[in-house]
Amino acid sequence: MSLTASEVHKLKKAPPLEGVLPIFHQRWSARSFTEREVSPEALRKVFEAARWAASGGNGQPWRFVVGLKGSETHEKIAGTLAGFNKVWAPKAPVLILGTALAVNAKGAANPYALYDLGAASAYLTLQAAELGMTTHQMAGFDHDAARQVLGIPEDYALGTVIALGYQGEPEALGDATLIEREITARTRKPLDEIVYSEWDMAAEL
Ligand SMILES: Cc1cc2nc3c(=O)[nH]c(=O)nc-3n(C[C@H](O)[C@H](O)[C@H](O)COP(=O)(O)O)c2cc1C
Repeated sequence: MSLTASEVHKLKKAPPLEGVLPIFHQRWSARSFTEREVSPEALRKVFEAARWAASGGNGQPWRFVVGLKGSETHEKIAGTLAGFNKVWAPKAPVLILGTALAVNAKGAANPYALYDLGAASAYLTLQAAELGMTTHQMAGFDHDAARQVLGIPEDYALGTVIALGYQGEPEALGDATLIEREITARTRKPLDEIVYSEWDMAAEL
């Protein structure tokens, strides 16, 4: 079965719920990107959203390395991608590597650095969706190679590579498995599986 990009977008969106910000249900992670560039203005907006995430002690440990298609940084990040990610993600117009300073001002380990980076990354993905773009976070990349080619210091932990751009046609992925994933509806655990009133007992919500 072949679907258009807009049919896929409809299928991926979760049902709305009154009082919940629509963007939470509308964001999803595409793998097919068009060649449309992301403007500097749009890029500033997604990082502006990330910047306002909460962080432990307001440490703001996140640092993002951003590569636009055609740049050396984009090529370097793309070169570290692993497995299937190598097939689809290099076509994204923007590749971002999220990192977080994992030591505090006193040199002690900050175990919440990646937590904070995750929050900032979530804001980034939601803001991108609000601007009509799509994002796809990936843990599947060679962390050592990324650290080396991008010169990331040892005290920064690596989060994900985030592909950013505009959603493309599923057929453009050119691979049956990837197309199948692209056109499959998203699923989530129900609330009673994830919210407890006591350990392992569903909270009544
Ligand atoms: C930490 C993290 C790592 C991920 N790694 C990959 C990856 O390496 N490759 C990939 O195709 N998707 C990856 N994903 C995307 C998830 O599979 C996707 O977010 C999940 O299936 C939920 O789909 P949705 O984002 O469309 O709601 C990753 C997502 C996160 C948050």
